[in-house]
Amino acid sequence: MKMHRFEEIWLIFAVIIIIGSMVVTGYQTFALGMGPPSHKETIDPQKVDQTAPFDNPGVFENGENEYDVVMTLEAFNFNPGDIEVPVGSTVTFIMTSKDVVHGMQIVDTNVNAMILPGHIQTISQTFNEPGEYLVLCNEYCGVGHQLMSTTITVK
Ligand code: CUA
Repeated sequence: MKMHRFEEIWLIFAVIIIIGSMVVTGYQTFALGMGPPSHKETIDPQKVDQTAPFDNPGVFENGENEYDVVMTLEAFNFNPGDIEVPVGSTVTFIMTSKDVVHGMQIVDTNVNAMILPGHIQTISQTFNEPGEYLVLCNEYCGVGHQLMSTTITVK
């Protein structure tokens, strides 16, 4: 059986697109390290309170204008909440969940992370503009989900 000529051309074209996409995605994932983090840093979600650094959540000065925030999320709290840092600070948030999947979004920034039990999520943000930044949970986590928020004050 002879295949129609246009059918052949489009078939070859489609295979080239598929292979091309796989090559580009593979290059970005493995050569550029852009793959989603997985199994990099894990934690026993039952023992968050006993596992460093989450046994001592808080804001820690780490250098000039550099802070680490060790944060645990649970229904329906960010711990610590009501964080204050000076203008120009670079803050690295090191987070995990003690129960279910939560979100951590800082309004007016690009910070928007999913916080999963059993995983440690790390994300940095520099705060150059003073103000009060709203921090929201943006993953539905239960009846109190809409109440799960806090603030970061930059001054
Ligand atoms: Cu935590 Cu929604």
